[in-house]
Amino acid sequence: MERTLIIFKPDTLNRGLVGEILHRFERKGFKIVGMKMVYLNDQVLDEHYSHLKDRPFFSRIKKFMKSAPSIVCVLEGNNVVTVVRQLAGVTRGYEAQTGTIRGDYSLSQQCNIIHASDSLVAADLEIARFFDDKELFAYEKVDLNFVYAEDEL
Ligand code: PPS
Repeated sequence: MERTLIIFKPDTLNRGLVGEILHRFERKGFKIVGMKMVYLNDQVLDEHYSHLKDRPFFSRIKKFMKSAPSIVCVLEGNNVVTVVRQLAGVTRGYEAQTGTIRGDYSLSQQCNIIHASDSLVAADLEIARFFDDKELFAYEKVDLNFVYAEDEL
């Protein structure tokens, strides 16, 4: 099953929007298979944004990404890389369509709520960058009626 990496950026935590955004992914049907809160450091940011190192905003995006914790998350599901990018909307919040995550919550290209892997190859690399194998969980969604029935015994 396909997996992708999401980073809930510092603006999302600061604005108290993590639950709302995560809810959109869960509601769509994606499964959370890994999640943790981290302070991203220079080493991981230099690697993660290496393709942007010559852009004028490189130091700014690094400063922003270190300004508060981020939540990194691995989602699993059918066509998850493409569908999450569609749900996110285009990079610049002020250009993103209403109904997308960035279209509904962002006016910025830096503070644009989430990062999401842009291809399957990138997703594999990015998941390995932020998670050890033991931090990822393969599980089936359980029949909760069964669990509740046991609870009542
Ligand atoms: S670009 O401009 O074509 O490289 O845009 P994109 O590849 O979609 O953006 C890559 C990440 O860079 C961030 N970004 C910016 N940060 C600060 N200032 C400016 N001007 C800016 N432009 C783009 C953007 O949020 C993307 O972050 P991630 O984490 O990859 O979504």
